[in-house]
Amino acid sequence: MPNIVAFGASSSQNSINRKLAHFAAKQVPNANINLLDLNDFEMPLYSTDREKEGIPELAFDFKAALTAADGIIISFAEHNGAYTTAFKNIFDWISRLEKPIWCGKPMFLLSTSTGARGAITVLELAHLRLSRERPNIPTFSLPSFNENYDDINGITNVDLRANFDTALNNFVSQLSQ
Ligand SMILES: Cc1cc2nc3c(=O)[nH]c(=O)nc-3n(C[C@H](O)[C@H](O)[C@H](O)COP(=O)(O)O)c2cc1C
Repeated sequence: MPNIVAFGASSSQNSINRKLAHFAAKQVPNANINLLDLNDFEMPLYSTDREKEGIPELAFDFKAALTAADGIIISFAEHNGAYTTAFKNIFDWISRLEKPIWCGKPMFLLSTSTGARGAITVLELAHLRLSRERPNIPTFSLPSFNENYDDINGITNVDLRANFDTALNNFVSQLSQ
């Protein structure tokens, strides 16, 4: 049974990216899912000066969740063409712990927004950065979330669902390698 850690890279209470990340994790056969909430990992804004005072325990806790997982699923919210502050702050803090930052685990990167671009800019940014640690990371962007997703069926658009399944299968095959 693969242990999957999944989260929306957002601190919104009703994050659509959290929903999408959870949906993706539930499609992994026989997975044990650890669905994280970034609000549980809120830390002081990273700075080199604050780091001299010590790295927050929550950064170690977050890293421990990554270490315990066989695969990592992240769905990115886009704020002004980039990561949300909530995600970037965690990323910065854990980047000061042991490498590789994302533990070299198989990853599946997604994004969604209520608009037609589906937060593709932040997904491309994340893919570019995280691929430096591990090549061949599958990605999937869901545009117009409210039109293409519902809580019962998940991704409802047939073509988008087919693209999702292709990316998911790539991720699942990496879990067993
Ligand atoms: C400060 C702010 C900036 C945003 N910037 C973008 C953006 O650059 N691109 C985009 O597609 N959506 C943008 N949005 C809309 C978010 O994609 C939308 O709020 C989405 O629901 C965020 O995902 P979440 O529900 O998982 O937090 C922005 C929203 C906020 C509040």
